[in-house]
Amino acid sequence: MRSTWNFYTAGQLTFGPGSVLQLGALATRRELSRVFVVTDRTLVQLGITKRVVEPLRAAGISVEIFDGGEAEPSIAVAVAAIDQARPFRPNAILGLGGGSNMDLSKITATVLSHGGGPSDYFGFDRVPGPVMPLICVPTTAGTGSEVSHAAVLTDSENQMKVSTLSNWLRPTLAIVDPELTYSCPKQVTADSGIDALTHAIEGYTATDYRELVTPPGEACAYEGSFLLGDVIAEKAIRMIGANLVQAVNEPDNRQARDNMALASTLAGIAFSNCGVALVHALEYPMGGALHCSHGAGNGLLLPFVMRFNLPERKVKFAKIAELLGASVCSDVDTMARRAVESVEQLKRDIGIPERIRDIGGNESHLPKFAEKAFAIKRLLWVNPRKASLEDLLGILEAAL
Ligand SMILES: NC(=O)c1ccc[n+]([C@@H]2O[C@H](COP(=O)([O-])OP(=O)(O)OC[C@H]3O[C@@H](n4cnc5c(N)ncnc54)[C@H](O)[C@@H]3O)[C@@H](O)[C@H]2O)c1
Ligand SMILES: [Zn+2]
Repeated sequence: MRSTWNFYTAGQLTFGPGSVLQLGALATRRELSRVFVVTDRTLVQLGITKRVVEPLRAAGISVEIFDGGEAEPSIAVAVAAIDQARPFRPNAILGLGGGSNMDLSKITATVLSHGGGPSDYFGFDRVPGPVMPLICVPTTAGTGSEVSHAAVLTDSENQMKVSTLSNWLRPTLAIVDPELTYSCPKQVTADSGIDALTHAIEGYTATDYRELVTPPGEACAYEGSFLLGDVIAEKAIRMIGANLVQAVNEPDNRQARDNMALASTLAGIAFSNCGVALVHALEYPMGGALHCSHGAGNGLLLPFVMRFNLPERKVKFAKIAELLGASVCSDVDTMARRAVESVEQLKRDIGIPERIRDIGGNESHLPKFAEKAFAIKRLLWVNPRKASLEDLLGILEAAL
């Protein structure tokens, strides 16, 4: 039984509307003189890239921009970013965008610092040491990549999402400026917002750190749940419950957007220490094959996995119901079920697909999804209820 836990996050987290204006001063203090920005064309066209580049240039910093980022990026896009970055000889990489661009920036920093190619680092703890300074500036309220140790790419050949996990990938600097999220379209707001809720719920209900057992010689990418993570996850769940529907349905509601920006970062801190589990394990093959966004896939699966996990986490589920604003009663079983119902209602309120068939899946896909998910052991270890291959198939059949 373990008796210790560790806690990691970004080296510095700067939060608040307008905080991006501090970028020049913050980079100068770290003696960063050549910054390679990883972003996409949408963010260039919206003028968001300019809001990040201007304070850097005003501080005398040389900037080069890669605008080839894409949603759920492929390994080939990561290679393109690396190829453009290398001759520029940056001394920092800045990821600007949703999780997709931030994750590309992490892979770029890794390969520039340690050589090889993206696939050399897939899995947990394969990055041999520190990478060059990473600055992450999110423009969605969702992934928490600005504080996390993860970078996710799409392996198009194997129709699978692949993760690189290393505490060396925690950004040196995370600047969370909610104003950069104000232009997010409705669907991006909904999908990335429910991803944040999934992070908070999976982190909160993860296997207790004292009981997290890994086979000899194998390390887990997560600590399991522990008090500090619980405190942060509870706050994230409450804030998402109180703000996500407004952020999606009233796009000009700045208070809701600002709260979602903070909540998603909190959820990122929680999951990247405590863990994500079965929802993510099932989403990686499903998203890889059906090309739904990571958030939509997670949101679709979340209540089905919650129903499976409920018997093992009744007290925490009851708390989740309360945090999501369900009416409170003293019966734990009733309250635990209300947690699942609250998530189902939230999904309907923001337009997340209900079923796998709604995103183009059918019966014949399910055995492969279950098999691939079953192979992602680090996520299964963290799941509060031990799941067999048949269990995974059962969850997918219920969600079909
Ligand atoms: N590293 C991590 O810890 C982590 C955690 C969860 C998910 N992920 C990964 O992150 C990716 C999903 O990221 P996401 O949900 O943030 O979406 P995203 O980065 O894929 O962006 C989705 C779309 O929204 C657009 N967009 C982003 N910000 C915008 C803005 N402010 N205004 C207008 N359009 C905007 C983008 O151009 C893109 O077309 C997936 O690949 C997922 O696997 C990573
Ligand atoms: Zn996620």
